[in-house]
Amino acid sequence: MSAFSHAPVLLEECIAALNIRPDGVYVDGTLGRGGHSLEIARRLTTGCLIAVDRDGEALEAASKRLAPFGERVTLVKSNFDRLGEILDDQGVDKADGMLFDLGVSSPQLDDAARGFSYMADAPLDMRMDRDNALTAREIVNEWPEEELRRILWTYGEERYAPRVAAAIVRARAKSPIEGTLELAELIRGAMPAAARREKQHPAKRSFQAIRIAVNDELGSVERMLETAPDRLKPGGRLCVISFHSLEDRLVKQAIHKRVDGCTCPKTLPFCVCGFVQTLKTVGGAVTASAEELERNPRARSARLRVAERV
Ligand SMILES: C[S@@+](CC[C@H](N)C(=O)[O-])C[C@H]1O[C@@H](n2cnc3c(N)ncnc32)[C@H](O)[C@@H]1O
Ligand SMILES: [Zn+2]
Repeated sequence: MSAFSHAPVLLEECIAALNIRPDGVYVDGTLGRGGHSLEIARRLTTGCLIAVDRDGEALEAASKRLAPFGERVTLVKSNFDRLGEILDDQGVDKADGMLFDLGVSSPQLDDAARGFSYMADAPLDMRMDRDNALTAREIVNEWPEEELRRILWTYGEERYAPRVAAAIVRARAKSPIEGTLELAELIRGAMPAAARREKQHPAKRSFQAIRIAVNDELGSVERMLETAPDRLKPGGRLCVISFHSLEDRLVKQAIHKRVDGCTCPKTLPFCVCGFVQTLKTVGGAVTASAEELERNPRARSARLRVAERV
């Protein structure tokens, strides 16, 4: 695979779940390098695909791959939490299917200059959208210690969050923390010896936490999930791939709320709370096959959930 490519995860499973109609309207909310979009676009005749990413570099790279499909594919640089406005701008009321393959792409991780990696030196950035103001540098150097502790704990499930946050605050009091390796080393130094010997890099969880905070990843997913079901046609499918339990929980809860959100006491013979079912689940959570894991270890944590608009 070339330096900055991205192997699409659960590709066949997503395409099957989307149930693509050649004349349908589809949304890929996380275009990336266009792996999923390409397979969707191939299946369209008179239909169209709206492909969204907040990363300008992803759009540029994918636009070349998708150029052969001409006007069937519209690329939009935006956060997918603006799903409603994106569809309005395109004059689309409801779509036949939507896909969200959450998180970061391999090219974002592999391009050291973007500051996502604890293995290569770069300025502390971690923005998916480089037009956004908030960077990792600002979080690390300016956020209060208790905020740092909170994000390390909740977004990174870092059990040494208090020690890591304290070490960051001590170091930045002397001089600003500028680089990824400087931060990674500082985090390593804050860990007890036993944790430093663990198989995974001692900075992995903290880097994940800071990245989620920089990009407001959970907030974006939550807002998107509020809108997506209402912008699907009856029978339209919503497919979401998540890569960690925090995200998967949001997806599961958002679907559940629309499948079975009745809050009436069980003793009532019928529903009086006004709940109207808008989604039904399609199968359980799907994970990658052994064969895919062999090809692409990154698929290990991927979980696909599918729901259908009723
Ligand atoms: C896992 S990659 C998608 C890979 C793509 N499915 C492929 O096969 O090439 C996730 C992509 O979604 C984008 N992304 C993540 N969160 C986003 C958001 N809230 N709004 C728009 N794009 C987002 C990232 O910039 C990244 O390019
Ligand atoms: Zn009810």
